[in-house]
Amino acid sequence: YQRENFLKQNEGTTPLFNTDPRKMEERAKEKLSEGGWYYASSNAGMSNTHLANRQAFYRHRLIPNQLIDTNNRSTTTTIFDHEVSAPIGFAPIGINKIYHPAGEAAVSKVASELNLPYCLSTAGSTSIEKVAAANGPSGIRFFQLYMPHDDELTVSLLTRAWENGFDALILTTDTWQLGWRHDDVASSNYAFYRGFGADLGLTDPVFRKRCVADGIDPDVDVVAASTKWIDSVWHGRAWSWEKIPWLMETWRGISGGRPFVIKGIQSVGDARRCVELGVEGIVVSNHAGRQVDGAVASLDALERIVEAVGESIYVMFDSGVRGASDVVKALALGARFVFIGRLWIWGLSIQGEDGVRHVMKSLLADLDILMGVAGFNGVEDFNRDILESDPKNY
Ligand code: FNR
Repeated sequence: YQRENFLKQNEGTTPLFNTDPRKMEERAKEKLSEGGWYYASSNAGMSNTHLANRQAFYRHRLIPNQLIDTNNRSTTTTIFDHEVSAPIGFAPIGINKIYHPAGEAAVSKVASELNLPYCLSTAGSTSIEKVAAANGPSGIRFFQLYMPHDDELTVSLLTRAWENGFDALILTTDTWQLGWRHDDVASSNYAFYRGFGADLGLTDPVFRKRCVADGIDPDVDVVAASTKWIDSVWHGRAWSWEKIPWLMETWRGISGGRPFVIKGIQSVGDARRCVELGVEGIVVSNHAGRQVDGAVASLDALERIVEAVGESIYVMFDSGVRGASDVVKALALGARFVFIGRLWIWGLSIQGEDGVRHVMKSLLADLDILMGVAGFNGVEDFNRDILESDPKNY
C-alpha cells in the first residue's frame, strides 16, 4: 500500500489524504458540522483520561531486532475461531451518518473487504439488517449492546443480531448515559443526534410497538421516536452484575452459544468477576476517555488485568490507539486484539467509504512494515521482552 501510494504520486495522481492522526483530525474538523465535530472529538471533563491514554503508550518503547528473516511475516490472527487479517477491529461507534451519509453500511463493507471484524453500535444510524447486508456473508461482525431497561426490547435486538449473522455480543458497561462532555452539553447535542434518524431503533418491531403505545407513529413523528430511542439507549439507569447471567443465557439461547463479551472493563476486580461468570471475552477500555475524566489510562489497566486474568479469558483492548506501534505495544502487554475508534471516524468524515478504506489499509501497511523492519514475524513475537518500559519517563 505504501508503494501503491508512491506510484500514484509518480503518475501525478492526487494522493489520498495524509493519515497522520493529527492531520486527519484537523481535516475532519473542517469537514464536519459543529455538532458532528463535538460529538466525535469531545471527551469527559478536561480530557485528562484522553491524554493519559496517549501518555501511557509513550511509557513503553519497542526494541527492534535486526537481520531477522521477516520475509514471510504475517499479521494474521484469530478472534473467537475466526481467521482475520490482523489483530485489529472496528470499535462500535454510534450514529455514523453524522460523519458521512454513507454511514455504517460503508464502514462495515470496508471491514469485510479487509477481513477485519466490524462491531455495530446499538446507537447506529443504520438498521441491523442493512449493516449485515453490506458486511456480507463472509464478514465477521459483532453486535454492541447498550442494554435497554425493557427486556422484550433487548430480546428483540439480540434476535435481530442473531438472525443477521452477528458472531458475538459485546455489552458496553461504561455508558448508561453519556459522560459529562462540556462541548457536547454546550452544543445541545442531544437534540442534534435525533436529526440523524436512529434507524437501528426505529426499525425494531418491539420498539415500534412501544412508540405506538405512546401515541408516536415512528414513520411520521421521527423526531419524537428518535428521542424515545435515545432514551432507551442512554437511559441513565445503571444495570448491575445480577443482570449479567440473564443476558448471557438469553444471548446464548438465541444464538446457540456464540461468544459474550463485556466492554469497558478497567479494574482487576471486574475482570475477575467476568471470569467467574464465564464471559468469553473482555474489552479493556475507557471509551476513549469520554466517560470518567481522571480515570486510569486504558493501557495501564490492561497490564494489571492481563497479569490477573490473562490466562483465563480473551482480553481485548481499546482507547488511544493511533498507529501500528500502539497495536504492537498493547499486544506485547498481553492484549490479544485491539479495536480502533477515532482513526476510522476521521477517515469516514474526510472521505466516506474511501476514507475509511484508506485509513485502515494504511494502518495494516504500517503494521506489516513495522514488523518487517523491527524483526517480528507474527503476533506471537509480541511479548514483554520487546518493550522497554519506564513508568516515570515519557
Ligand atoms: C465511541 N465509543 C462507543 N462505544 C460503544 O460501546 N458504543 C458506541 O456507540 C460508541 N460510540 C462512540 C462514539 C465516538 C464518537 C467515540 C469516539 C467513541 C467508544 C469506542 O467503541 C471505543 O471504545 C473508543 O473509541 C476507542 O478509543 P479510540 O480508538 O477512539 O481512541
